[in-house]
Amino acid sequence: MVQSIQAAPGIAAPENEDYWRMVKRQFPLDDNLIYLNAANVCPASRGVLDRHAELLRDFQANPSFQNREKYDPLAERCRKKWASMLGVTADEIAFVRNTSEGANTIVRGVDLKAGDEIIVTAHNHPSNLDSWKVRAKRDGLVVKVVAVPVPATSKQQLLDGLQQAITPRTRVITVSHVTNTTGVMYPAKEIAGIARRHNLWMHLDGAQTLGALDVNLREIGCDSYAGSAHKWPMGPLEAGVLYVRADRIPQVWPAIVTAGWSDNLVGARKLEVFGQRDNPRLVALEATVDFLQLVGMRHVEARMRALAQRAMRGLVEIPGAKLKTSMEPGLSGGVVKVDLPAKEMKPAYDALWQRHRISIANTASGDSRGLRISAHIYNTMEEMDRTVAAVREIAG
Ligand SMILES: Cc1ncc(COP(=O)(O)O)c(C=O)c1O
Repeated sequence: MVQSIQAAPGIAAPENEDYWRMVKRQFPLDDNLIYLNAANVCPASRGVLDRHAELLRDFQANPSFQNREKYDPLAERCRKKWASMLGVTADEIAFVRNTSEGANTIVRGVDLKAGDEIIVTAHNHPSNLDSWKVRAKRDGLVVKVVAVPVPATSKQQLLDGLQQAITPRTRVITVSHVTNTTGVMYPAKEIAGIARRHNLWMHLDGAQTLGALDVNLREIGCDSYAGSAHKWPMGPLEAGVLYVRADRIPQVWPAIVTAGWSDNLVGARKLEVFGQRDNPRLVALEATVDFLQLVGMRHVEARMRALAQRAMRGLVEIPGAKLKTSMEPGLSGGVVKVDLPAKEMKPAYDALWQRHRISIANTASGDSRGLRISAHIYNTMEEMDRTVAAVREIAG
């Protein structure tokens, strides 16, 4: 039962290894595996899996309209919970398939005309970079790509790079909250402030922060934000959340219009009319947000950061290793990138898997070249230490 992991009153969960071992047991991960690829896909907890399976069986046992009447109220309850966790209102949340679909809803949905400029960074994910380039080709927009310092040394350095790219033709500015490449955390609130002053749309890619950091979107002040349930939120595959600020919703055209569409749909709901949806999966998003809230996003973030710090403190000591992620908490989140400049990346990545059963990601070339380690609350400090030792062995 999910409830069994609730911290006893007075226990500071992030510092209590027994508590986190209990959290780990909520996941069906192989014992013989060190899974450090949260930035790509996370396992779902048993509670989420059970709820998803229960809903799926119920749907297939009785697909009648009558049995399915329950889904709208359940989806609305789920929407309220996600909105509350993110500090916004339910009307500002749409359930999409993933971060990519959320980003593309904005890319294709916002009115822009020839000559308008879009500011992106060189480390934006393709869903928030190539998507803009495709729209630019179609509509004569200009995409300005700002370089990303590796590693980043200050918030000001990041802000300066973006600010220098702004011109009177700029209409949109969009970054990854935390990048999947070198794990730099962009100062989202400050960028949103700049966007407001220049009347720009600011889309924030939340793939590496939704379910990882204790994000309050109202405080950040961005215009839109998207994340995937199957990454850090530890939810079902191919489900995601798109937030659009209330006053901006009328400015987004829906990419897909089908049965269920109406001009009277309230808020961001107009952006999730995709025809028949996978209702059991969407409603399993409620168990996903329940689990995060049960542990507490403050505790999730603290633990995730503690694991990342443990890894970085070990990696930075390895001769022949170069950390590409800043150890400064204001400049990083849960994504850690380390390069071994004297080694090829693919054999190093293979050795971690073949000799140690450590699952990570790697980038073979470019300025984000390196091994990517991303731990979450189902990992242990011991796993971080074993990973650092394995990288040391490969580096030597
Ligand atoms: C920063 C970032 N944005 C977007 C995505 C796309 O996520 P999805 O494939 O779930 O849409 C990813 C995936 O790794 C990512 O890291």
